[in-house]
Formats: sequence, structure tokens, C-alpha cells
Amino acid sequence: MKQYPDFHKSQNVLHVNCEEPRSYFIPYESEEKADIGHRDDSAFFMSLCGEWAFRYYPDSRDIEDFTSPEFSPEGFDKIKVPSNWQLADGFPYDKPQYTNVNYPFPLDPPHTPDETPCALYVRSFNFSKEQIENRALYINFEGVDSCFYLYINDKPAMYSTVSHCTSEMQINDYLSEGENTFKILVFKWCASSYLEDQDKWRLSGIFREVYVLSRPKVNIRDVFIKAEPSCNFTKGSLACEYDLRGDADVEWRLCSAEGKCLFSGKEHAFGKGSFNAEIDKVNLWSDEKPYLYILYLICNGEYLRFEVGFRKITVYRGCVLINDELVKCKGVNRHESDPENGYAVSTEHMLRDLVIMKQNNITAVRTSHYPDDPRFYSMCDRLGLYVIDEADLETHGFENDRMLRGRLSEDPAWEEAYLDRAERMVERDKNHPSIIMWSLGNESGYGRNQKAMSRYIRGRDSSRLVHYEGANTVQNNNVQDAECVDTESHMYPTPEYCEEYLRKREYRLPLFLCEYCHAMGNGPGDLAAYWDIIYKNPRFFGGCIWEFCDHAVKIGESRKQPKFAYGGDFGDAPNDGNFCVDGLVTPDRKLSTGMMEVKRVYAPLTFERKSNGVVVKNRRCFTDTSDLEINFTVERDGKVIKNAIVSPELKPGEEKLYPMSFPKDGCSQLNISVIRKKDTEFAKAGSEVSSASFELCRAFKPNVANNGESYVKSSKDGKYIMVSCKNLGFTFDSQTGKIALVVKNGKSLFAAVPKLQLWRAPTDNDRIVKANWYNFKLNELKRKCYSVKEEYVGCAKTVIKSEFSLGADSWVPVVKGTETYTVNANGTLELHISADILDSVYSLPRFGIQFEIPDKGENVQYYGYGPAESYLDKHLAAKMGIYETNAVDNFENYIRPQENGSHVGTLWVRTPEMLIQSMDSLGFSFNISRYTPEALTQTKHDYELVPGDNTVINIDAKMSGIGSHSCGPELAEAYRVSEKHFDFGLIFSFD
Ligand code: GAL
Ligand code: MG
Repeated sequence: MKQYPDFHKSQNVLHVNCEEPRSYFIPYESEEKADIGHRDDSAFFMSLCGEWAFRYYPDSRDIEDFTSPEFSPEGFDKIKVPSNWQLADGFPYDKPQYTNVNYPFPLDPPHTPDETPCALYVRSFNFSKEQIENRALYINFEGVDSCFYLYINDKPAMYSTVSHCTSEMQINDYLSEGENTFKILVFKWCASSYLEDQDKWRLSGIFREVYVLSRPKVNIRDVFIKAEPSCNFTKGSLACEYDLRGDADVEWRLCSAEGKCLFSGKEHAFGKGSFNAEIDKVNLWSDEKPYLYILYLICNGEYLRFEVGFRKITVYRGCVLINDELVKCKGVNRHESDPENGYAVSTEHMLRDLVIMKQNNITAVRTSHYPDDPRFYSMCDRLGLYVIDEADLETHGFENDRMLRGRLSEDPAWEEAYLDRAERMVERDKNHPSIIMWSLGNESGYGRNQKAMSRYIRGRDSSRLVHYEGANTVQNNNVQDAECVDTESHMYPTPEYCEEYLRKREYRLPLFLCEYCHAMGNGPGDLAAYWDIIYKNPRFFGGCIWEFCDHAVKIGESRKQPKFAYGGDFGDAPNDGNFCVDGLVTPDRKLSTGMMEVKRVYAPLTFERKSNGVVVKNRRCFTDTSDLEINFTVERDGKVIKNAIVSPELKPGEEKLYPMSFPKDGCSQLNISVIRKKDTEFAKAGSEVSSASFELCRAFKPNVANNGESYVKSSKDGKYIMVSCKNLGFTFDSQTGKIALVVKNGKSLFAAVPKLQLWRAPTDNDRIVKANWYNFKLNELKRKCYSVKEEYVGCAKTVIKSEFSLGADSWVPVVKGTETYTVNANGTLELHISADILDSVYSLPRFGIQFEIPDKGENVQYYGYGPAESYLDKHLAAKMGIYETNAVDNFENYIRPQENGSHVGTLWVRTPEMLIQSMDSLGFSFNISRYTPEALTQTKHDYELVPGDNTVINIDAKMSGIGSHSCGPELAEAYRVSEKHFDFGLIFSFD
């Protein structure tokens, strides 16, 4: 028997019995309570969260007759509200599924599969006669995926569909004194699911809080606050409109952040009311100084409290201006995502994310790809983050068929649903100063329905910009539709494309990268390339890195590490594997080395080295530098030779030269550290704001002088050539020219002798280029020796030279060259490789030497870019220095194992048994690990990695850069290993 109407099957039935959308607020019984702002403590707030009886039905056609008098929830399971049912303990219901573009059901709008799962939530709540008769009771659902029917005491009460917005209903008529049963039937898919094809774990259920507001019968329904500074920013004008259900006395009071009353008023309003106020010497709101005034509205015993920020967003001559300043968007994209709770994120979780952002100089966040929990925006208002608030709308999977792309956006039958999503977002969030742009959604093609959304938004709120990437000139036949959008928004363009756009004068809109620098796995690299252009071009507003956090599901612990699952791990199909693991922080919010790069490139002070000093530029728009201190340190050969602490005096946007003399010898560099002088909302005094490092001089020669001359003795014994010197014995294979053994005082030093290594475990950013690497089987190369020559130069040295190639089955060799070992009378071993690379090999993962030493867990020292992993295009956060590490500590963990932990620009490495030096100032990339590149390649999850018996050391003439090609542009040429010839040498000393 069917218990519910079929509303969920139609794209036109969106909300039944729901209130009109309104701005988010919670009424309190006193000003004090409103000031504290814990909504659970409001006398008018009744939470319906907690444990509910729950039953999951894999096929909604099998649902029982839950409104019949015989029905009882006895035998039901329990589930926590809010939560996603797929993530309940032990994963008993359904399974988490991760898909990016692909819809997880057949593309046949508005139809959903016959066997759509659903779940029933049941719980009773008590209401008093007084409440029911004298108050107006509104139930609020802040987020339910994908739609729900509410039954109160077995009467159908409400239906609503839109996962990430609030649905509200007045329920008095359905209640009776005492116990009342609430039944909520939630469908996994409904017609609206076609509008929610975001790249995310597909999870269902009541994932945000549910509560009842107990309000006076005449109450303020909605409030719209418009706060704008005057032209010269001396005054602020506040206009407040409110809607009233009935007529009542309404009082208002505007206070400064310090609590001083600046303005107050009172009126008896009928249905609607409004008031205006002028503030002298207004304090503006910005990311740097998020000054908030407090506005109270008081009506019939309710205190509504709003935080008001005065700020102005405009586009002037193609530039985005905030309070008339050329602010840059130093942004990230953020999904609501928790490894244990899925979409159900707590306020602590939200705040932690935002604090991490502020600590890392991030100034903007795009709520990709839906409106967040309503409380999130207050945190942004307070901490100072610009928000691009995005409508819950994406139909990406239609792109699977080019003919279908954007189909729903063109279809009038879907217009109402599109508009509803714009309206619910704008109405709910309109009072937040942090929101600077409304986004019409993501990846849904472009058509009449977005235009309708934009018209609606602009009609309602002209104070903010409208963004939609689908409307850019590339996707819109070279037409810039300024009627609809205020920015030319792009995803993942190359820096060159950005420059090209900025040169085009026919396009007037500012450039905004709603997504760039895909931060998947080891990455992103090459961030600075964008910021060089962004800073140079006033019409370049900046962008939001994709994305803030890795999404994975915690499935347990191993070796005290959480075990994280990604797409496919639950047998979910279709799935997109680990494409969800692409953030700057791990699922449990550990910072990645990519985030360290972001912190540097988004820094508020930037530095430029001149011959006579350093130019410091204050990149902030509203704040001088009196809160900062700069620590300049000059080092030569890893030792500090000069140090100066400067309190910079720079106005917003100002730059100054700080004169300094620099050494011109040795390996010297200037390190800069910017320190906070005062505590802030998000960081302590003394913490580092940013850092920078400049190499001043790089003159390196290997040091072998003190090794004491001896003599070299060589002999041949069948297959082997034996060379000895001092307490060292070197054995070479006379048929291959390869070194076989190095012995010191009878003890073997290498667990695996040096060999040429071209392979690295592909990073996620190697996703595309690796096809070429696999094509040539660079991970399965076999060495062929053509000739071996021995040269004995008396007792001064012995030279073993072999001509060789590396090639895989079925292919011509990819490398041909000579490998030369020289044992010198001072006991050093030189290895030199000169090689040519096959023309058709597009690029190599690396060109270097790999060997292994016994694993004793001992520390090694290196002089190179550290301590963070560093690559050709990813070393903003690392500095040249002498660091200690070991195979365990040097490992940078990625959920899907991949190349990690390299140190570019290294000049020497000292292990307990040997010193390895570069032959010249160029140096090498150094890595120490418990895993071979092959082992990292073959393992799918970090928790499945098994350390080898030995410690693996890689010394690369060149290690490929990182880039962001997992979704972004190809790695820039300078960072590819596309050389066709290498000459590379190392010196090993064993004292
Ligand atoms: C974009 C999309 C994001 C995400 C990203 C790849 O195209 O907007 O949602 O899928 O690519 O990680
Ligand atoms: Mg998408």
C-alpha cells in the first residue's frame, strides 16, 4: 500500500505546506542570550536532534504502511539526527558512493529508478496546550538529502526538496497536547536529484539540524538589512526592512561592536516595516578588519540579533573593488565534509576549517557547490572571510552526452526549481556581510534558467556580484553576458590563457578563477605562476583553489593512523576512485605541504630581492604593517651570518626598499619570516604569518680535500674486478660494468647498489602524463650492457666504464649512455652517467640514481630545500638549509600512495656511512624512504603500504615538477623532465 503522494517524482512540486523562505535568525528571550548566541540555549528553540527510530528500505516500493494504527516503530534501529545513513556505525545501510560527473542513476529526467531507497525516521515529542494554543510553532529542517515527507500524528504535514537549504513549516494545527509522533520519510533520489550532481560522496538523510521555533503568534517573519558606506566612506547608511505576521510594536537598536547604542527606534508596524539609520565615522567591514555592528530587533518578547557589516562591492572598469580597494580573492573551495559524519558537520568542525584558512592567509571561500550550514556565514562575518555563496545546483552528468549538455538549464519545465534554489539561498543568507558574490551553481551548462536566477537575484539584492562559470565567453560563444554575470569566471585555465583574456579589451568583466590549482595528492605546484599575473593585473580578481579538504570515509585505524576509503572501496559503482581526495588538508584536517605553499603565495607581505636590499610590499588593502615584524636572516653554507628584525611601516598597498648587503660567495641565502606581534581571533602573537627565501649565491664544490691520499689496488677475479683503497673494497661486475659491492672494514655499505632510476610513483597530477610513461614501460626497464672498459691509472685511480641502455619488452631502448665509476686514491667513489633519451619519450618521471642502505632507522643530514618536501615548482614553503631526517619522518603521507618527500636543490647528503655530494652547484633532488617507487606505485591505500627491509635513497639529476594536471593545465615545460641528454655525477665518500 502506498503511503505517500508522489511529489518526489515531479520537478514541479518543490515544497508543500512550507513557509516562504526567510533570512536565518533564532529568536531569544533576552538580549544577553541573543549576545551569547547559543541557539540551543534559547527558550524558544526546541531541538529535535538526537536519536530517532530508523528503518532503511532498499526499495521504496517495499515500505510498510507506517500510518496505519497497527504500525509501531518497535524493532526499528536507532539513528542519530543529524547524520547520513550511509555512514551509520558499521555501514549497515546502503553504501557511500563517490562519483564526480556521472549520475549514480540512469539519466532520464525527471525519473528516478524504481528501486530508489528510502528511510523512515520516527520519534515522539511533547507539546503543551499552552504552546500549541498560544504560540506559533515552526519546524525547521536545515538540510535533508534528497527530499522528505513529514507526517505528524500520521497526518501528512509537509513535503520539501532541496538538500542544502532550509525548509520551514508552521505545525500548530497538527499537534495535540502531550505526545506527538513525527515520522519523516526521506528518499534517496527524487526528481530534484538531477539538480544535485555535484562532485561529492552521494549521501542521504537528515544531515543538518531539525528544530522547532516557538514564537509569538505575531512575529517578525523576515528581515533584510542593507548596510552601505557612503561614497567617501565616512558615513554608513543602514536600511532595514522587515516582514511581520500581523501587527505589533517593533523596537530596534543598533550598537557598536563595543556595545554602545548608536541608534534606536520603535514603531507599531502592520505587516511590514522599515527604518533607516546613518552612522557617522563608520567602521567598515573587510576580511582584514571584520568590524561588526549589532542590530537588535525586539518584538513581542523576542530578541533577534544581527551582525551588520558596512562594506561595498563594485566592479569599476573591469576591476572588482571592495570598499573601493583592489582586493584580491585569495580563495579556496570548500565542501561540507567530515570523514566520520559526512555532510553532518558540527559548528566546531566549521570553525576549525575557517581558522585553518585564516592561519594560512586564505581570505575567501566558495561554498562549493551549495549553501552551507546557516551558521557558517556568521563565522565568516566574524573572522573576516569573503564568501562566494553557491546555489545548490549542478547538472554536470548531462555532459556525458554532448547533445544533452545544459539541457535542464534550457528547459522551462525546470525553471521554477532553478529559481527556488536561488531564492532559498539569497533569502536565507542575505544579511551576511561576508557574502560578496552569489553563484548560480556549478557546471550545468548555460541557459534561460540561469538567466532567470540572475534576474531574480539582481532584483532582490543589487549589493553583491553574480558569478556563474558556465556563462563565460568560452562556453557562451564568445559573448560576455554582463546581463547575467559580473565576472568572467573560469576553471583551471593556464596562466597564459589568463593573460590572453586580460589583454582582450572587448571583454569588460573582471577575471575570476572559481577553481584553479587542483590540489589533488602531492600538489598543487606552480601556484606562483598565477599570482604573478593576478598581482600585475587589476582586472584579475584572483581565484579559489580546488579544494580545501580531502573527502574520504574513515573505515578504521591502522598503526594509529586512520584508514580512509575513497570511491570504489565500498563496491560503489559507478565511482571516481580517489578524485575526491584532492584537498589542502587531509580528511582529519592535517595540513598538506600544498597548504604550506598556499600560505606563502597568499601572504599579506611579498618580497622582491634587489641588489641593494629587499623591497617589501604590503598587499593588504586596509591595514598597515604595525601588527607585523620581519625577521631577516642571511645564511652562508647553512650557518647564520646576519640577522635583523625590522618593524615595517607600510601603509596599505605601500612598498619600500629595505637596504641590505648580501654575501657574494659560498652558498648563501636570505630567509625572511613575518611574525605576528599581537594575538588575533585565529592566531597567537609570535606565530608566523608567512616566510620567504631567496638564494643569494650558489657556489658549491664537493669537498674531498681532507680525505687523506692513499693508493688504489685493483685485481680481477673471474667475473669481478676488485678495487681496494684504504679500508674500502669495491667490487664491479666485469660483464655489466655495474658496481656489485662496496665494503668498509669487511662490512657491506649498500643494501642495493646504485642504479639508474627513471620511475617515480605517479602523483595524482601525473594522471595524464603517466600514460606516456607506462607506454614506454618506464617502470619495467631492463639494463643492457654493450661494453665494459677498465682503466687503471697506476695507484691513483681505477675507472670502470660501461656502455648501456635501458629498455622494456617490445620497445626500443629509451636511454642509451655510459656509466662511469671511478675509485680515487683518496677513497672516494665517483659515479658519472651520460645518457641520451629516446626522442619519442615525451618526458620522464625523473632521471636519477637509486640505491638502498640497511634500515637502521638512523638519521641522515642533507643540505637542500627542506624540511617540507620540495620540487622544482613546489618549494615556496621550503628553504635551503641543513636538515636532519630519516626514512620515516621524511615520508609525506598521501591517502593514495605516490611520489613524495623529495628535496630539490640538495648539494650533499650524509648518512651514517657515507657522504654523497653533488659535483657542481646545480645539486640534485634527494629522497629517503622506506618504500621503493615501485612499491608506492602498486599500493592503493596508505594503510596497505608495507615498508621494505631497507632504506631507499634517490638522488635525481632532475625530478619532474608537480603542477596540477590532475584537473588543471599541463605541467609547465620548464618543470618537465623532457631533456634529451643528461650528464650527471655524484661523489661518494665513506669516512
Ligand atoms: C571541477 C568541479 C569540481 C570538481 C573539480 C575536480 O570541474 O567544479 O566540483 O569536480 O572539477 O576535482
Ligand atoms: Mg562537477
